[in-house]
Amino acid sequence: MKNTVATLQEQKNNKQKITMLTAYDYSTAKLMDQSGINCILVGDSLGMVMLGYPDTLSVTMEDMIHHTKAVTRGCTETFVVADMPFMSYQTSVYDAVVNAGKLVKEGGAQCVKLEGGLEVCPQIEAIVKASIPVMAHLGLTPQSVNAFGGFKVQGKDEEAARRILQEALAVQEAGAFAVVLECVPAKLAALISAKLEIPTIGIGAGNGCDGQVLVYQDMLSMYGGFKPKFVKQYANLGEQMKEAFSEYIRETQDGSFPAEEHTFKISDDILDKLY
Ligand code: KIV
Ligand code: NA
Repeated sequence: MKNTVATLQEQKNNKQKITMLTAYDYSTAKLMDQSGINCILVGDSLGMVMLGYPDTLSVTMEDMIHHTKAVTRGCTETFVVADMPFMSYQTSVYDAVVNAGKLVKEGGAQCVKLEGGLEVCPQIEAIVKASIPVMAHLGLTPQSVNAFGGFKVQGKDEEAARRILQEALAVQEAGAFAVVLECVPAKLAALISAKLEIPTIGIGAGNGCDGQVLVYQDMLSMYGGFKPKFVKQYANLGEQMKEAFSEYIRETQDGSFPAEEHTFKISDDILDKLY
């Protein structure tokens, strides 16, 4: 079944959880599509897990278009969300519409995601008016890492909790079709999910959200040794990959790879003529 903004809203209405993972390339996206995931996020976490930057701020529109193209080529059923990178929408409503358009028109995404609350409502309204669905993102918004002074849980005191709730209502009012809640207390996320008509997708926000998202390198343990509290490791591919790489190195060094079955043949007659 093809996932759309309509089917995602139906899932919330029918209390069926929405599943989302990040992906940044064709082959991973294809595996997720075949696994039956609802949504793939081409996250600007790309900057960290694929490009090795310490945060998401350096990611460009060119990076996002490049990787969104790769992901959409691997998807048939999956709803593809492309992150708007830092400074592609904060600068003006005009920039926001132009850049959202590029992620859909050039990248092939079905929707865009941007971070922030009240301050980006004009951008959300304008992008939605251009017929591009917008997913909002509240709580720990990594593009604000310098303003926050680090990656920390948001919304723990009353004022901050009230602000996140108000911002969730505001982005819904501005036309967002869904909202990511990142690193907010589980009970606050559950309350927001109950108050909103649109689906909430949580990461580090408990199981009271309408859906969940994880960065795939985190859930497969293939991004260094760092494991945030909210990540569950479903496989340890990092270790498996290192073992496979080491075995290849060993077998290549001792000559046991390639073996007979990995090689192409030529007849001895032909070979004799070459001597
Ligand atoms: O970029 C990303 O991977 C994200 C998710 C963590 C929600 O924005
Ligand atoms: Na992101």
